[in-house]
Parts: sequence; structure tokens; C-alpha cells
Amino acid sequence: MEKLKVVELFAGVGGFRLGLENTELNRFEVTWANQWEPGKKVQHAFDCYASRFETGKHVNEDIAEVTDREMSETNADLIVGGFPCQDYSVARSLNGELGISGKKGVLFWEITRFIQNTIPKYVLLENVDRLLKSPSKQRGRDFAVMLSTLHELGYDVEWRVINAAEYGNAQRRRRIFIFAYRRNMTYGKEMAKLNGEDFLYNKGMFARAFPVKEEPYKNRVAETEISGDIVDVSDNFSFEFHNTGIMRNGEITTIHTIPVEEPATPLREIIEENYDGKYVVDGEKLEKFKYLRGQKKEERTAKNGHKYFYTEGGMSESDSLDLPGRTMLTSEGSINRSTHLIKMDGKYRTLTPIEAERLNGFPDGWTDTMPERTRYFCMGNALVVPLITRMGNEIEKIDIEYPENITQLELL
Ligand SMILES: C[S@@+](CC[C@H](N)C(=O)[O-])C[C@H]1O[C@@H](n2cnc3c(N)ncnc32)[C@H](O)[C@@H]1O
Repeated sequence: MEKLKVVELFAGVGGFRLGLENTELNRFEVTWANQWEPGKKVQHAFDCYASRFETGKHVNEDIAEVTDREMSETNADLIVGGFPCQDYSVARSLNGELGISGKKGVLFWEITRFIQNTIPKYVLLENVDRLLKSPSKQRGRDFAVMLSTLHELGYDVEWRVINAAEYGNAQRRRRIFIFAYRRNMTYGKEMAKLNGEDFLYNKGMFARAFPVKEEPYKNRVAETEISGDIVDVSDNFSFEFHNTGIMRNGEITTIHTIPVEEPATPLREIIEENYDGKYVVDGEKLEKFKYLRGQKKEERTAKNGHKYFYTEGGMSESDSLDLPGRTMLTSEGSINRSTHLIKMDGKYRTLTPIEAERLNGFPDGWTDTMPERTRYFCMGNALVVPLITRMGNEIEKIDIEYPENITQLELL
């Protein structure tokens, strides 16, 4: 069976690719990948990616420098990528390609350019869940600009906020996943016929991969419409998006869904039996951790001399081994309130780089091509790989269930 050609953007150390290469039908082939860490001479994530994956073209260049022609030559069927939550507001411009211009350096516009150049069947993106609510002064605007843009490009879009631990994984990591597919494909046409609730509770890609209860949380169901006028959306749109939703031909149904939970993997199960003594935390270092994790109410002085009380709630002294890990951040390798601290046989210690990899479901030693601090950093940036495998399993089945005859050029 013909493979689906995948382009991996913002590839990091390859979480999407690892997940997609593990699917049941093995239908994905990453043929082009891009990873570039701004401002860094040594490109650790890229070097790791290039050493772990042999096939396909690996490009270590600012995505903004990749030409339209190179993009179009990838002939992508699926574009995947995890990208930052930035300011997506736009203004009208006289010569922009979509007749609009967004802020410089905003990576979503590079994804848009890739889509315009390749018109893939599917797009699968990952972002922090804050995207649904940003910015705070015009809640939902950034996500709405994204939806409006994809709508204009001929795509319908499904989204779900997923906490990896709720579906059996070892980390409480909540991220939004966005699945877009061409509206004029057989799949798009069939999905357009469903009522919104049936779609989101049962038939959509996310409902198939990650079951939810067939009732909303606290009656939170809402509908709205999004115009194709992206500037109007950017200027005026504000809406409370829930954790699950669908936009079909600009019409949105969004529901706060409740996951059908699968038992999480407790930290205990991913802990290494033998570890280097350098991970043991005691003395001054332990005192610092205790202070950082503790409750605080202290007087501080601002730069302008103004005195104020800083308060912060306390955390447990160490992370319970009977629970999944907390969200791993890029600062995991430093002494920090968010860094995991575990206690075993009376000793405190931090996680080893291998344990950090296991929290995300990467193979042991995946990032051992780079310095240790960077290994934690890359894991803080990465995603929980088995989630992608579950999505990939459904996307490859969808692709078989709804065979497509139209060519890429027949999109709009
Ligand atoms: C959230 S991380 C994605 C991690 C990835 N999903 C993984 O599993 O490792 C975003 C990545 O985008 C890369 N990046 C940031 N700006 C970029 C640019 N202008 N061009 C290409 N890559 C960029 C960063 O170096 C980072 O590795």
C-alpha cells in the first residue's frame, strides 16, 4: 500500500516521527524534516534527529528561509509539527499573499505557507492548551485566527486538549492537538454530514483515538461561526472555546468533554533501578529545593522600591511515586520548583535523563548524543510519543476508509 508522505516541522528530536513510525499499518514515511534552534551554533536537537533517523531529507535551517519551491517539492500528504503559542493577530496589507500580514517571526505563518505550497490531505499540530484562551484581553482570538486561516485554505479542523496521563501515560502533560483535513475530500464531505455532537463524542479522529463520555462537563456546549475575513476575526472575535471542537465550513461546535480515563502509569514504573550518585540531592541543594517547593509569604521589594508580599502555595516535599509525573518543562535540568524531586530508600534525587525520556515515551538514551542539560531541555520541548501513535493509527485507517481520487491541484 502506498505510504503517506509526511513533512515534520519544528521537528525537535523527532517525537512526531517516532510516534508515526509505530502505527499498526506502518503507512507513514517522513520524507522531509526541518529543525533549527534560533541563535545556537551547535544544533543539538537537529544533530540528534539526524543521527537517529536515516531516511528522508533533514533540513537545519530557519523555516522562514525555506523557499516555496522546496516546500512544494515535498508533495506532503500530511504536515505535522509542534510550534509555539505566539501573537497571531493580523492586519490588512497591500501585498501580502493572503492580503493580510501577521507579525514577523510568528511560526504559524510558516506552517500556513507550507500548506499553501503543498495542499496536503491532512495537517496535525500540537501546541500548549493556553492557545485556546489567548490573548487574555481578547480570549480565543489567536485560535480563531488560526481556524479562519485554515478555513480560507480549504480545511475543516478538529481539536482536542489531551492530558497524556488520562490516557495511560506517565506524565500529566496537557496539550492541544489540532487535526485539519481538506474539506473537499471524501472524508471531509462525509464528516460534514454528521451532527456536531455525534462527531465529537464518537466519529471524529480524536473521539476514535481517545474516547470521551457522551455528556458535556457542566453543560458546556457552544456554537458559533467564524468568518473567512481573517482581519475581522483578528480585530473583533472573542469566544470561549472548550477543550474539544470541530470547525466545518466555518461553523464551530465546541464541547467541554470528559475523558474515559485509562489508568495512568505511576512514576514508580519508569524509575531506573541503578542510577549515578550525581542525581542524589542533599545538603544545601536539598534545602534550596525545599524552599522552592514550600509555601511562601514573604516581603519583597520591587525595582521602584515598592514593597509587596509575595505568596505562593506549597507543593508536596517530593513527587509521589504512585502518581504520574508533572508536566516536564525545559528547565527540568536545573534546581527549580517545577523540576521533579523523588524520594527513594530515604534519599532524595532528581530524574535521570533516561527517566525524562521515559516520561515522554521516548526510547532509553534517545538524546544521549548531547550534553545532559540539553537532554532535559529537549524533553521539556517534546511531546508524549504514544499519543501520536494513537492519532496515527486513526489517520491511516481514515485514509483507507475514505479513498481519495482528487489530485492536489483540485483543492479549491
Ligand atoms: C516545541 S518544540 C517541538 C519538539 C518536537 N515535537 C519533539 O518531539 O522534539 C519546537 C521546535 O521548533 C524549533 N524552532 C524554533 N524556531 C524555529 C525556526 N524558525 N525554524 C525551524 N525550527 C524552529 C525549536 O528549536 C524546537 O526544537
